[in-house]
Amino acid sequence: MKKIQLMAILASATILMQCTSSSTAVEEPSVLDTTALQSAYQQTVNGKNVGIYFLKNNNNIEVAITNYGGRVVALVVPDKSGNPIDIVLGYDSLDHYRNRNEAYFGALIGRYGNRIAKATFSLNGETYKLAANNGPNSLHGGPTGFHNQVWDVISHDDHSLSLAYLSKDGEEGYPGNLNVKVIYTLTDANELKIEYEATTDKATIVNLTNHAYFNLNGQGNETITDHELMINASKYSAVDSTLIPAGAPVEVKGTPFDFTTAKLIGKDINTNHEQIKNGLGYDHNFVLTKTAEKNLDKAASVYSPITGITMEVLTTEPAIQFYSGNFLDGTLIGKGNKKYGYRSAFCLETQHYPDAPNQPDFPSTVLEPGKKYQTTTIYTFGVRK
Ligand code: GLA
Repeated sequence: MKKIQLMAILASATILMQCTSSSTAVEEPSVLDTTALQSAYQQTVNGKNVGIYFLKNNNNIEVAITNYGGRVVALVVPDKSGNPIDIVLGYDSLDHYRNRNEAYFGALIGRYGNRIAKATFSLNGETYKLAANNGPNSLHGGPTGFHNQVWDVISHDDHSLSLAYLSKDGEEGYPGNLNVKVIYTLTDANELKIEYEATTDKATIVNLTNHAYFNLNGQGNETITDHELMINASKYSAVDSTLIPAGAPVEVKGTPFDFTTAKLIGKDINTNHEQIKNGLGYDHNFVLTKTAEKNLDKAASVYSPITGITMEVLTTEPAIQFYSGNFLDGTLIGKGNKKYGYRSAFCLETQHYPDAPNQPDFPSTVLEPGKKYQTTTIYTFGVRK
């Protein structure tokens, strides 16, 4: 095709695109410095290309995701006055993620999110040893878990990013070649949807999640104890001092763990309660009230009275880890040179129960060959004025 013809086609396509977009809400230019971010992420790691990918919807929500660990690097939502607020913690560059202390900022977590007691489990008569990277336990898939792997980018457009990762048989001690796919989608209904899929060639265990740290007052702000939180859970897992569930879930009623009606995160966080002491605050598995197993049900909602920003969490998973940022202590310096202080973020990690591979009464995390692991979690954003 002649160059001139091609230009004419491109010009008419541009006019068409402009006409289409003028019928939707007024789109502001990106608030993220996409050029600077691209140069802070474009690198080769372990022979694979790392980059950063942007999603944007017609209500000016923007998400930046790197395929290094599939991490959500920025999530910008308008506050009640329309000001853009980045509500997730993270670092300014790929180098920082690789060289500064690991807090799993925004990362995809696997093969097994949360803890496995004594870093070991048995499956079909075989015992598997994992790395003990959290006291005696295994945490978040081990040191070279999915959060530190370069994911393949399968497809990308303004609204979605599709990532894949092959976790080889024996990686971090887990059996089976596990083919994982994660699709991030940002909808015009202000949802950030995360769809997880996995298949294996040998029986294994799987528990995937995302480890975004939120502060609805804006990343780098002092605290999240002023946020209101509701968790749709009448039971939670009481834990031992190494944060392993001590048997069957217990009632939240009459305890600091009752978030069935919204209350300030800070209301009971310093209560003299054994479980609050074990978690150094909240760091517990909440068992969700479901309409049916695997239904996409409301799990939690959060509200910041300062910015008016609201977040709802829906999931097909049976549980959620509510972590109140108790290990943040001001030593990690994040985006824009912000010091991430004690309880300056919270996580709501949708999941199966911690240590399920060793506790047969918990919902199973075993994936058999020929079966498909499939879960969905949606974070929906809005404002209350
Ligand atoms: C999870 C755990 C916490 C902590 C953070 C990362 O949420 O439950 O105990 O390890 O990850 O610091």
